[in-house]
Amino acid sequence: MSSRYRLTSVDAVREEGSWAFTVRDEHGTDEEVFLVPCDDEDGDAVEAWVNRCTHEAQRLYRDGIGAIVRNGEVVCPKHGSLFDACSGYCDNGDAADTTLVSVDVDVDDGQVYLTDDDVRFLYEGTKHDDGDDDDPSSTSHLQF
Ligand code: FES
Repeated sequence: MSSRYRLTSVDAVREEGSWAFTVRDEHGTDEEVFLVPCDDEDGDAVEAWVNRCTHEAQRLYRDGIGAIVRNGEVVCPKHGSLFDACSGYCDNGDAADTTLVSVDVDVDDGQVYLTDDDVRFLYEGTKHDDGDDDDPSSTSHLQF
């Protein structure tokens, strides 16, 4: 079975730099995921990564800040490892020789769709459940 769920537009991801949503996986675990632009040859790509560094359980996307992307690489805010935004691979620092966990998305006519049959879309934004988010003003982005 294959289905797809429209998440947002490529333009929105590019304008904001990253875009977060929460899914439930096949084991019933809720996972945060973030989209980042991936400037490959077609210039219209977006990739989705589970919001957790491969070194420690550190969020890469943070409420009110988003994911930090520099020169096509996602920066871990804790120890500074850099992950390729297109491949998820890290070749440096504490997370060297690891790859972020990917979630399948497709871009079609400027829109980003969740196509991963192993997860189910829950809502836009992050879980807000561990008390370490520092920007309560961001709740408005949960509205549709
Ligand atoms: S937690 Fe990300 S590099 Fe250490």
